[in-house]
Order: sequence, then C-alpha cells, then structure tokens
Amino acid sequence: MDSNSVHLLEQQLFLTFIKGLLDSKHVSSTHTEKLQVLEVGCGHAYFFELLTSQFSNRLSVTGIDRHKEGIDAGEKRLGTRLGDHRLIQSSFLDFEPQQKEAYDVIIFTKSLHHCPPLDVTIERVYNLLKPHGLLIAEEIARIPTGETWLFDRMEILYAADLLKSNRPHQLEQVIKSSDKPPMERWAMLFGHHGHDHQHEPLATMEDILISINAKFGASNVRQHGNLPFYYHFFAFAGLTDTPLGANILTTLIAQEDKAIRDGKLTGQGIIVVAEKL
Ligand SMILES: C[S@@+](CC[C@H](N)C(=O)[O-])C[C@H]1O[C@@H](n2cnc3c(N)ncnc32)[C@H](O)[C@@H]1O
Repeated sequence: MDSNSVHLLEQQLFLTFIKGLLDSKHVSSTHTEKLQVLEVGCGHAYFFELLTSQFSNRLSVTGIDRHKEGIDAGEKRLGTRLGDHRLIQSSFLDFEPQQKEAYDVIIFTKSLHHCPPLDVTIERVYNLLKPHGLLIAEEIARIPTGETWLFDRMEILYAADLLKSNRPHQLEQVIKSSDKPPMERWAMLFGHHGHDHQHEPLATMEDILISINAKFGASNVRQHGNLPFYYHFFAFAGLTDTPLGANILTTLIAQEDKAIRDGKLTGQGIIVVAEKL
C-alpha cells in the first residue's frame, strides 16, 4: 500500500477488519475459483484499489457507483492495474449481473444508508448472493453525542491550513460554529453539500439492522460496533493528501482508537455481517 496516501490509509482499517472473513470464505470455497465480490458505492475506488491489490489472485471484484466521476477517476488512476476487475457506473438497483446468485460477498462501503428503499435493496442483495454468501456493510452508527473530540482537532487542522475541502464555505461555517452542539456541526458538514443525499432521508442504523435481520434471520447477522469512524471525517474535510497529511491521519486513527478503548469516546463505526443460509 502507498502509506503516503490519505485516501488509501483511510480505507485500510476496514480492510484489515474484514480480511479474516475474506480469508475464511476463500478457504471454505472450492479454492479453484476466485471469490466473486461486489462493492457497492465504491466512490473513487480507493477501497477497491486496496482490496484488488492485496487479494489480487484470490478475488474477482466488481465495484459500482451511481456517479460517473468516481468510476472515471478510479479507472484512470488504476489503469492496467485494474486487470480483470471491473468498475461500473450503476445504481445498485439498476445493476444487472450476468447471472443470478452471482456473488460470494457483497460489500457496502459507507453506502448502504444511501440506498433506498432499504427493504428492496436488502432483498436484492440476498438474491444476488450465492448460498452462504456474505453481506458486509461498513456503516456509521450516528449515535447522538456531545463529544467535541472531532471538531477540536478539526479546528486545529483548519488553523494550520491543512484542510483543502472542495466545499470551503461549508467547512468554514462548521469551524466557526464552535458554540453549536457537535451533532449540529456534523449536519453542517454533510447536510447540504449535494454529494449524494437524495430527497429521501438517509436510513438510520436501526432501519438497516431491522431490514437485514428480517431478510437474513437475526441469528445469521453479527454486528461489530464501537469502532473508530471519525477519522473518515478528516479525509472528508479535505485533509491534505501529502505525506504530512498521511502522518496526521495515522496519528488521528491511533488517538481515536485509544480514546474509544479508554471509554472517553463513542465509536461511531459499525460493521454488519450477514450470511445467507
Ligand atoms: C459516503 S460515499 C462512500 C464512498 C466510498 N465507498 C468510501 O468509502 O469512501 C457513498 C457512495 O455511495 C454511492 N451511492 C449512493 N447510493 C448509491 C446507489 N444506490 N448505488 C450505487 N452507489 C451509490 C455514492 O455515489 C457515493 O460514492
């Protein structure tokens, strides 16, 4: 991995987390064929890049995103490194793989809460999975919090001119609102930026779990919560993509992890794994 890239570094923790799952899935499969993996909402394909480079000979990965910009950027950056893996512009519900029950693993990288209607999405995931296939969703729990951990650090990075956001006015508003509660500042950071928020409200974690449990059966669903997540916000706010930015992000991830383990911070990250039996 290019440890100097903020964007790749940002994706590494989730990959480390699910590596064991992918390894055991591979061992329990026929060994002869590559595992078929679909990543939904791959954005600019940074997680896709890590996944395909670190598991190149064991996986065949298709990354989809509804926006052309990210797919084009991913194709351009990866070039011939794309190999037999594929990046496709498509909304999940419009995506038509060549066969039914096509995938061993379907991964949503911070994208499931963007995919309404949720029940239809989960039904489709289920139908696209092979028997014993896995749904893995990397999500944000959005647990209401009064902690200022995130914005205290963001203010310092902003003062040091290390946040190169493509929404500078929005970021400035967030930074200047230190008198506002943290949840309000989150909303400012993500709320009205035209990134991808459709008219329907984003699905909550509770909605997501209800929907997955109903389709997969609660006993086939596991959740791993209280995980670091705020570090993504620094990348989202435009933490400079330089070796310095990467060093800062490494430090922030370590600080967040420690604060959670010490019980001083709520881990907003959650990973849900569901198996189709
Ligand atoms: C929060 S971003 C995450 C991007 C990337 N996976 C990451 O981890 O940095 C959510 C992504 O999901 C994509 N997305 C949202 N709804 C989608 C849908 N219905 N089908 C495919 N992609 C979708 C958006 O275009 C966006 O790139």
